[in-house]
Amino acid sequence: MDIGTTTQTLHPLDPLGLAELAAFRALVIAHPGYAPSMRFATVELREPPRPVVEAWQPGTAVVRAAQAVLLDTATGVVIEVVADLNRATIASWEAPPLGQPPYGQPPIILDEFVRVGQIVRADPAWRAAVLRRGLTEADIDLVQVDPFSAGNFGYPEEQGRRLVRAVAYWRGDIRDNGYAHPIEGVVAVVDLIENRVLTLVDDPIAIPVPRKKRNYGREALPAPRTDLKPLSIVQPEGPSFSTDGWEVRWQNWHFRVGFTPREGLVLHQLGVEGRSVIHRASITEMVVPYGDPTTNHYWKNAFDAGEYGLGKLANQLELGCDCKGLIRYFDIPCANDDGEPELMKNAVCMHEEDYGILWKHYEFRNDIREVRRSRRLVVSFFATVGNYDYGFYWYLYQDGTIQLEGKLTGIIQTAAIAPGEPYKWGAMVDENLGGPTHQHFFNARLHMALDGSGNTVTEHEFQPRPWGTDNPHGNAFNVTSRVLARERDAAREADGRTGRYWKITNPNRTNSVGNPPAYKLVVNASPLLLAQEGSAVHRRAGFATKHVWVTQYDPAERFAAGDYPNQHQGGAGLPAYIAQNRNIENADIVVWHTFGHTHVCKPEDFPIMPVEYAGFMLKPNGFFAANPALDLPDDSGHSTLAADEPPSCCCE
Ligand code: CO
Repeated sequence: MDIGTTTQTLHPLDPLGLAELAAFRALVIAHPGYAPSMRFATVELREPPRPVVEAWQPGTAVVRAAQAVLLDTATGVVIEVVADLNRATIASWEAPPLGQPPYGQPPIILDEFVRVGQIVRADPAWRAAVLRRGLTEADIDLVQVDPFSAGNFGYPEEQGRRLVRAVAYWRGDIRDNGYAHPIEGVVAVVDLIENRVLTLVDDPIAIPVPRKKRNYGREALPAPRTDLKPLSIVQPEGPSFSTDGWEVRWQNWHFRVGFTPREGLVLHQLGVEGRSVIHRASITEMVVPYGDPTTNHYWKNAFDAGEYGLGKLANQLELGCDCKGLIRYFDIPCANDDGEPELMKNAVCMHEEDYGILWKHYEFRNDIREVRRSRRLVVSFFATVGNYDYGFYWYLYQDGTIQLEGKLTGIIQTAAIAPGEPYKWGAMVDENLGGPTHQHFFNARLHMALDGSGNTVTEHEFQPRPWGTDNPHGNAFNVTSRVLARERDAAREADGRTGRYWKITNPNRTNSVGNPPAYKLVVNASPLLLAQEGSAVHRRAGFATKHVWVTQYDPAERFAAGDYPNQHQGGAGLPAYIAQNRNIENADIVVWHTFGHTHVCKPEDFPIMPVEYAGFMLKPNGFFAANPALDLPDDSGHSTLAADEPPSCCCE
């Protein structure tokens, strides 16, 4: 789909098209403040605030505005620019004060990935450090240099500079998996404006580089197994969804697809049976803090959304590769680092999946047998951020369930371990090769719209009930409920022991049994941030210290770790948002959910780890008057068996 040349009527939430991106760039480069050394770190639609979107009527004029963060690679100056595309003017051109506390930098741009490798490989002290670890001069051209977001550890010489910390990996061949060969104890702190190594950390003890190859290019893989027969997904009558521009309809669901450089996929105006549920849903941040205190690792805590950009690093998916079945891909118009429009082909994938049984009963007394299969709509994208690959899959189900599933795969970070030494801060994955223990935290931002904008979050849990005249058998238990009324009371932790859960309700409506209609936030009792309070990552990833946060909607509060997490001192994002302690009862609210994993590495994770999952669900809870999928057709006759195969069981 090429939004840039479509004649379809625009919707206020449509991503910027190619023509709009080109017009925006032209306005920016014509501005007197523009310099050719400026790069476009992010370019996106300036989304109208919710009231504006909801007041808009189809067929009427659409307000279109674009915004970008510009980075002057010669001076380090950062500009936030907003353009009014209807009037073709620059609406604002401002330099945020990122050179002073609490600092912050735009995300790392693609050009810097390349530049850092050149700077580091040319640095004499770095070359000496790697030669001391057994590399030769001839090895250096093939060394893989990874520019890692630098964090902010309060080192005076680093404040206000644009930096990355670079670690490196030996490779004997360009197709080698560098992560099998970490160069331990050498970290180059690179100033990206002065284009030089600011500081080189070179541990006195030189741990040898592990040399055992652990490659995954197909020439290095074992011979493929031969006992796998084809499994084909066939939809002879086509898919059951329809699209109109960025709008999608499937079963009783409707929503709009959006996409930003930082978050990637965004779902707008998601609703079911003509009722609204969520105004806007996305993953606004994720962070991976490492638990190894040594030279190459203690500072590693990449914020993959705010420091790199999940959308900018989205994969261009290929049919038959990532997904099966009848796929509808969305091409995403975007801007490259020079602000030039480009089309990310097949960046968002949508298809249907069979998902087993949705409901079933066999009544032996009267021989009623009814069973219906579940089908789900999948809207997804994959982002590769350095060593890791993350899939973000939104699932919609026929019973009103909404699910987000993160898929974690790719390659773990590695550490070289001296021969014969134990690895204290992680686990061994191969000879002399360790995987540092780390955590992955994602944060979903859910701007709720449950039957309208006045929403309330309630918290529920189960407690044993004391013996008493009303509990003479001791079997009764209490279900406690409370309203989360203010922001500071709504920073909450999951508790599997009490089954704590949350409902998003609309107190202004009444459901079929006299209660407010609701959706339940189903969370997994996943770990919270393990780093110490006061540590750099604890300050910067405050969102990972609680599972659930609720804020009053403010269009300026978009990201769980704040606007500029890269090199930020900390405190921004959710901890700052909730410090206002605004009312969140019967209000326009945003629910933020943090979830993740603590990852202790194992040999099976290497060289590429099988997918690990992390996510949550939203399930209707008094939203419908009955099971909303009772009207599903009986699909049980559609099962096909090969002629020479006896029916093995049933059609389930
Ligand atoms: Co991991």
